[in-house]
Amino acid sequence: MAQARLLRVSLALGCLLVGLLIVLYWDRVGTLRLALAGPRPPAVPASPTPPAFPDAPAGPEESVRGYDWTARGPDPQDPEDPAARQAARRGRLRALCANTSFAFAATRRALDDIPSRELDHLIVDERHGAIYCYVPKVACTNWKRVMIVLSQSLRDRAGAPFRDPLAVPREAAHNASSHLTLGRFWRRHGRLARGLVRARLQTYTKFLFVRDPFVRLISAFRSKFQLENEEFYRRFAVPMLRLYANRTRPPASAHEAARAGLHVSFANFVQYLLDPRTEARGGPFNEHWRQVHRLCHPCQIDYDFVGKLETLEQDAAALLRLLKADAGLRFPPSYRNRTARSWEQGWFAQVPLAWRRQLYQLYEPDFLLFGYPKPESLLRD
Ligand SMILES: *[C@@H]1O[C@H](CO)[C@@H](O)[C@H](O)[C@H]1NC(C)=O
Ligand SMILES: *[C@@H]1O[C@H](CO)[C@@H](O)[C@H](O)[C@H]1NC(C)=O
Ligand SMILES: *[C@@H]1O[C@H](CO)[C@@H](O)[C@H](O)[C@H]1NC(C)=O
Ligand SMILES: *[C@@H]1O[C@H](CO)[C@@H](O)[C@H](O)[C@H]1NC(C)=O
Repeated sequence: MAQARLLRVSLALGCLLVGLLIVLYWDRVGTLRLALAGPRPPAVPASPTPPAFPDAPAGPEESVRGYDWTARGPDPQDPEDPAARQAARRGRLRALCANTSFAFAATRRALDDIPSRELDHLIVDERHGAIYCYVPKVACTNWKRVMIVLSQSLRDRAGAPFRDPLAVPREAAHNASSHLTLGRFWRRHGRLARGLVRARLQTYTKFLFVRDPFVRLISAFRSKFQLENEEFYRRFAVPMLRLYANRTRPPASAHEAARAGLHVSFANFVQYLLDPRTEARGGPFNEHWRQVHRLCHPCQIDYDFVGKLETLEQDAAALLRLLKADAGLRFPPSYRNRTARSWEQGWFAQVPLAWRRQLYQLYEPDFLLFGYPKPESLLRD
């Protein structure tokens, strides 16, 4: 009698212990199993039914003429062949990240030390095994739309998954709840998350699109401060007007400011970027002007594909082929206005030379990592 009871108790204790061990080691066990099981990590629990969005016309930014221009034509050094081009771009990233004399703040951090909220720029598509790091001002609305079509994460008014990227309303593309991000994934899966995130980063096709860093800044300035944008006016333009334009009482709204003919200048914006108080008080730069290496962690995440806005059409086609998603899906064409290189001089003419040099320092890692030539003519007398 006593023996049988002892047996039962030890059996129960044994089960408990095994359960405990499984919970404790699941991280490693999970990753190991995934690594052995082949290229695709197991599906995550189904997400809630995707929300439906009504159709909506394109937002104001897309109707601005010359909005999506690029400063420079394709880089003559850039190989034509898509595979060779990617090999060159990725080789450059790897070499720089491995170079110990190229030390900038974010390079030396381990992947596991990146907090989950910093992975919120990585949009996951479980159906094709793709991860897209979105960089605002680099065709990101259209790539987000493509991710929605690929992952079937949203439905149109008729209840069917969107098939045409351009049918996805702009607001829906930018609504965080339309996408599964690695950061959300991490938070949703608690203890299991780290292994699952790592497995996805090892096996999925990871891509991002970049552009010339200074041109991206000009594009951000134009869309957020030259168009009437109430949110950006209140959050950013008002402090800039107070601090750098000697306006003790800036108008209360972007609309009033526009009526009064008052705008922050591009020089004010540069001053704001260079001001040490900006990040000390307000936290990391807004995503529209945060450096790409801080948004996408290219030294911790081994990107399979580095696209550039300057070669958007070719790169988009090559990427969709790589994802095996090119049947019936085309990247939306955008309005292109290739302007001569000289216009950059125009934008920077009002910015003092010392500031331009400091601004280059601030964005230098992006210039180097992604192979953009140093804008020498802007940095000389
Ligand atoms: C292209 O953009 C530049 C700069 O905004 C503008 O001055 C020019 O008129 C545009 N060209 C065309 C053809 O729209
Ligand atoms: C590492 O970077 C330094 C400075 O940018 C450069 O001079 C050096 O040639 C690089 N080394 C390698 C091995 O690429
Ligand atoms: C984002 O989408 C969700 C779900 O449809 C909706 O409840 C929310 O209001 C949207 N947010 C914005 C800012 O549009
Ligand atoms: C700022 O404005 C005040 C009042 O208009 C003026 O006295 C002062 O000289 C201005 N300062 C600068 C730096 O422009």
